[in-house]
Amino acid sequence: VVSGSTQPPPGMIVWLLLTFTALAESSFQTRRSHSCPDLCSCSLTASGANVLCNQSSLTYFPEHGLPPNTTHLSFQGTQLSNITAGHLSAVPFLTYLRLYYNNLTSLPPELPVVVSYLNELDLSGNQLVHLPPNVFSHASLYSSLTFLDLSWNRLTSIPATLLHKLPNLEVLDLSDNNLQELQEDTKSSFGVILSGNPWECDGKIEYLWKWLSDRLQNVFFLNEVTCGGPKALRDQQIVSLTETCGSAWAVQWLSLAADLFWMCLNISLFSLSLVSSFMLSVNISSCTHTLFL
Ligand SMILES: *[C@@H]1O[C@H](CO)[C@@H](O)[C@H](O)[C@H]1NC(C)=O
Ligand SMILES: *[C@@H]1O[C@H](CO)[C@@H](O)[C@H](O)[C@H]1NC(C)=O
Ligand SMILES: *[C@@H]1O[C@H](CO)[C@@H](O)[C@H](O)[C@H]1NC(C)=O
Ligand SMILES: *[C@@H]1O[C@H](CO)[C@@H](O)[C@H](O)[C@H]1NC(C)=O
Ligand SMILES: *[C@@H]1O[C@H](CO)[C@@H](O)[C@H](O)[C@H]1NC(C)=O
Ligand SMILES: *[C@@H]1O[C@H](CO)[C@@H](O)[C@H](O)[C@H]1NC(C)=O
Repeated sequence: VVSGSTQPPPGMIVWLLLTFTALAESSFQTRRSHSCPDLCSCSLTASGANVLCNQSSLTYFPEHGLPPNTTHLSFQGTQLSNITAGHLSAVPFLTYLRLYYNNLTSLPPELPVVVSYLNELDLSGNQLVHLPPNVFSHASLYSSLTFLDLSWNRLTSIPATLLHKLPNLEVLDLSDNNLQELQEDTKSSFGVILSGNPWECDGKIEYLWKWLSDRLQNVFFLNEVTCGGPKALRDQQIVSLTETCGSAWAVQWLSLAADLFWMCLNISLFSLSLVSSFMLSVNISSCTHTLFL
């Protein structure tokens, strides 16, 4: 019996352990440096990779090193100012794209084509003024989008397709932009946030007024959907404009702006009860006079 001869000496075990540790560490680091861009942190989940880039020194989209199976990608508080279809084609399986408080001034029109499995798209806190007109017109590709956040940008208009080509949208946040009017033909049933915009309460506000009145349950912070102009109506809640009209019609001495007159007339045309109270309280002669001017 040769006891101990099959066992390696203790020094060898330590050496082997050290070698294995070093090898494992270096292979881990190589893999990490290959699969995660600089200035970002990556984590692997059962469904794919999560990538978070939140360093303010980041100014470019990291084209190299993004794990190809990235499903969640977030840029927060960076100086990223543009993003292209080419950038996004590196991450075709994205379901969650959060570009939150960066410096984006534009979006690639091909966005829905290159990332067609998106569930959530958060573009809040950027410098967007316009969206590409057809960015949301690839309806079938966008069937998965449920959440779209465009708040805290500088949007002055939104493409009509945004409101009726997203069949599964649950929440659309358009708050804190520069929107003055809403496009017509918006047959939507999702929840929407419209507060913090300078809605222009002239004759054309009738559409928004009716749209809001039809969707009281779906509009969050309804009381904060207010007029930015004209002066006489600033900060007035849009859903309560009929009350303003009622009192305006009653107070004969109030000199009404032409816009306000048309707005009230337009809104009252949608409500018979209001039309009748309007007929009772208005100074009929001045009304017909204005009408036939
Ligand atoms: C994602 O890719 C990494 C390597 O890049 C791999 O380790 C991981 O298993 C992949 N995950 C899935 C869900 O495919
Ligand atoms: C970036 O995100 C990580 C993880 O959430 C956090 O610990 C860190 O403080 C963030 N850094 C900045 C600059 O926000
Ligand atoms: C994107 O931003 C970078 C850095 O600010 C700039 O060098 C590049 O020209 C921009 N590309 C486009 C297409 O605007
Ligand atoms: C990003 O925006 C901030 C604040 O608006 C500005 O100070 C900074 O210069 C911008 N950076 C770039 C690269 O445009
Ligand atoms: C609403 O007012 C505008 C003027 O601002 C007018 O052109 C339009 O015909 C009006 N619509 C209705 C339905 O009265
Ligand atoms: C209301 O009608 C009277 C005459 O019936 C007129 O004197 C007055 O100026 C009118 N008021 C307004 C606000 O037009």
